[in-house]
Amino acid sequence: MTIYRGFAYLYAKGPYPRYSERMTELLPSVLERFGLKPETVLDLACGEGTFAVRMAKKGFKVTGVDLSSHLLQLARERAKKENVNVEFLLQDMRSLPFEEGYDLVTCWYDSLNYLLETEDLEKAFTGIYRALKRGGLFIFDMNTIYGLAVIWQRHPCYVQQDTSELFEIHRPGYDFEKNIATLRITGFIKEGNGWARIDEEHRERGYSLEEIRQCLKKVGLKELACWGDLRELSEPKPDSGRVWFVTRK
Ligand SMILES: C[S@@+](CC[C@H](N)C(=O)[O-])C[C@H]1O[C@@H](n2cnc3c(N)ncnc32)[C@H](O)[C@@H]1O
Repeated sequence: MTIYRGFAYLYAKGPYPRYSERMTELLPSVLERFGLKPETVLDLACGEGTFAVRMAKKGFKVTGVDLSSHLLQLARERAKKENVNVEFLLQDMRSLPFEEGYDLVTCWYDSLNYLLETEDLEKAFTGIYRALKRGGLFIFDMNTIYGLAVIWQRHPCYVQQDTSELFEIHRPGYDFEKNIATLRITGFIKEGNGWARIDEEHRERGYSLEEIRQCLKKVGLKELACWGDLRELSEPKPDSGRVWFVTRK
């Protein structure tokens, strides 16, 4: 993987983990709504481990998988520091090896948008279906086409982080034919008296709700809810930047 290398550190230090902190806070009411009391949790594309570690602290048995060894290293350090046990695995979510072991599978913060082909999304959903126990839930979010094509593109260049230790600039772009957003990230990390530079190009594919639903249906995951706002639990609107799905095996 050529992304989330140097950027892994900027990601963990930046505002990004706050999103999964929020998911940890909002999740209990969603689980209650659908009557699930999970014991085992699989967090796909777990990143630097904030969600997995917080769930483990609440007493769940958690596995986190990700494709970035750099992020997994930070996740393992986080679990150690917090004194919890989480199984962190280097694993592509398009080829999950699990068999009916989990009550709950999660995938947060547009990680599924990193899958650029419909077949890849289907492969991930197939593995998730297999990983779930019967009756188990798969809850995830994705950026919408509007989110990637409009909200992401509001500024052609902007400063995302600027501290005495870190500096991060984003330059977004969008391919309307392929529905693929590109985010060119340039970062600087303070090293001694100088700065180390990192450059990464992240690409996210926008899928229509219809495309997502077709993939879910194809693998047998039943849609229970689709929201454009996780606090209000309201329907997606044309200008929703992100959607949350709750599905059941
Ligand atoms: C925006 S980050 C989200 C990380 C984490 N879920 C969070 O909420 O902070 C996207 C994550 O997707 C992971 N990722 C992208 N493609 C992947 C794949 N094919 N399999 C597993 N992880 C993948 C990246 O390594 C990264 O950790």
